Amino acid sequence: MELLEDRIRQDGVVKDDGVLKVDSFLNHQLDIELLDACGEEFKRLFGDALITKILTIEASGIGIACGVARCFGVPVVFAKKAQSINLDGDAYVTRIQSYTHGRIFDVIVSKKYIGPEDHILIIDDFLANGCALDGLIDICQHAGASIEGIGVAIEKGFQPGGRSLRERGFRLESLAIIEGMDPETGAVEFRSRIKP
Ligand code: G4P
Ligand code: NA
Ligand code: NA
Repeated sequence: MELLEDRIRQDGVVKDDGVLKVDSFLNHQLDIELLDACGEEFKRLFGDALITKILTIEASGIGIACGVARCFGVPVVFAKKAQSINLDGDAYVTRIQSYTHGRIFDVIVSKKYIGPEDHILIIDDFLANGCALDGLIDICQHAGASIEGIGVAIEKGFQPGGRSLRERGFRLESLAIIEGMDPETGAVEFRSRIKP
């Protein structure tokens, strides 16, 4: 998506640990017009699928998920990162390993908000190793819900998450795929795509 790629080139900050900071429009301050445009693009990409819920994970997936949910006219459910979990059986629980943050955490979704009748579009802001998305997939599978697709704003194509999800047969669409970043110059190189 050209609009997002241009914004990353303009306002993204390349750190020397392979991390792209997008705090000024996606991860701290939110550009709602951009999020709405991303939502419309996901609607175009997944418009043929029946979607009943958007599923994401707190915190930074919520903004983009709201832009998508508005276009599909369905609710957003966000998985919560829990410190200690009351395992009373009314929530789906999964465990996520975060490489960037160097820790493992549990994530929960109430059984009230996802069930076997749901057709889910999973949305997140970043795809790197894919651990967060693996967790969301696990929750959908526990719930017996159908996963219609996975939509990501920014995929880091030089990390293994995207390839692994595609190999597993998931319908994955990323609005911008980064092939490489140079912390010296700040340059970001995108995977070229076939224009619609
Ligand atoms: P993974 O989920 O794809 O495996 O990613 P990883 O464990 O490496 O990353 C953990 C967190 O860092 C995730 O956020 C992920 O979205 C984010 N992340 C990974 N690479 C980048 C990057 O280059 N730039 C930015 N800005 N974020 C990146 P999270 O756990 O959902 O945390 P939160 O930010 O929502 O609290
Ligand atoms: Na994040
Ligand atoms: Na995220």
